[in-house]
Amino acid sequence: MSSGWLSAPLPEQGAKLSEIDTSVPHIARVYDYWLGGKDNFAPDRAVAEAAMREDPNVVEGVRGNRAFLARAVWYLAGQAGVRQFLDIGTGIPAANNTHEVAQDAARECRVVYVDNDPIVLSHARALLTSEPGGATAYLDEDLRNVPQIIRAAGGTLDFTKPVAVMLIGILHCIPDEDDPAGIIKQLMDAVPPGSYLAISHPANDINSPGVGRLASRLNELMPMKLRFRSRAEVAALFDGLELVEPGLVRGPEWRPDSDRDLENPAAVWAGVARKN
Ligand SMILES: C[S@@+](CC[C@H](N)C(=O)[O-])C[C@H]1O[C@@H](n2cnc3c(N)ncnc32)[C@H](O)[C@@H]1O
Repeated sequence: MSSGWLSAPLPEQGAKLSEIDTSVPHIARVYDYWLGGKDNFAPDRAVAEAAMREDPNVVEGVRGNRAFLARAVWYLAGQAGVRQFLDIGTGIPAANNTHEVAQDAARECRVVYVDNDPIVLSHARALLTSEPGGATAYLDEDLRNVPQIIRAAGGTLDFTKPVAVMLIGILHCIPDEDDPAGIIKQLMDAVPPGSYLAISHPANDINSPGVGRLASRLNELMPMKLRFRSRAEVAALFDGLELVEPGLVRGPEWRPDSDRDLENPAAVWAGVARKN
């Protein structure tokens, strides 16, 4: 069951859906293809396949990124006791969406999803399911519009209580000139002490040759330009926050559940940090 105001974006859905240009590859749908989803079109599949030829690890890698997402949410809703999540860059629903994992850990968890892609909006209803006592909401909004996000998310989240801000696999879509660090500062200024920031970010300094070719190919073939970053660049995005153990590591090395997690080749930097 979704909470009332959440259906607010949905009447616009028809209009937004007509904005989906299936002739142009889009990162959300390319990612969906790598994850084995069905919400992708021929141009997305062509880009995804071309990228796989440059770096055959990419398919396993995105699964490793998704597994990090699930472990981070499980940790935050479990050990860290967080009950509110702001998940920006939701993506097309896949296995272990944030609200499912969080509400498995504690059914009263409240989750606001944010994405700016009409195809993700078209799946909003699938994301707007919730355990009784919890809530989920969806905002059709751009990460660069933090004040609007905070204002609208305030319909579901109580910003006087801790919130976990999830930026999983999205910051590489934000170029340096759009100031990702400034965006994160605005977000973390809006949440109280005891809140958390979780980031996973494609790396340009892990398995560098393959990843470099992958990034170049994606940027050649897609209008949206991606910026992979180094460990030092991602570490700087946590400025002023306290990284929880094991710190900023390759995604599969973040609190792995098994050796199988550790074997995953994901070339992403991942970490979770607390605002004190
Ligand atoms: C690679 S997917 C990651 C999905 C999910 N977080 C995960 O890690 O499995 C990136 C998502 O971020 C969204 N996105 C990219 N730039 C965005 C922006 N400026 N504002 C909001 N969403 C954005 C895309 O539409 C896409 O759905």
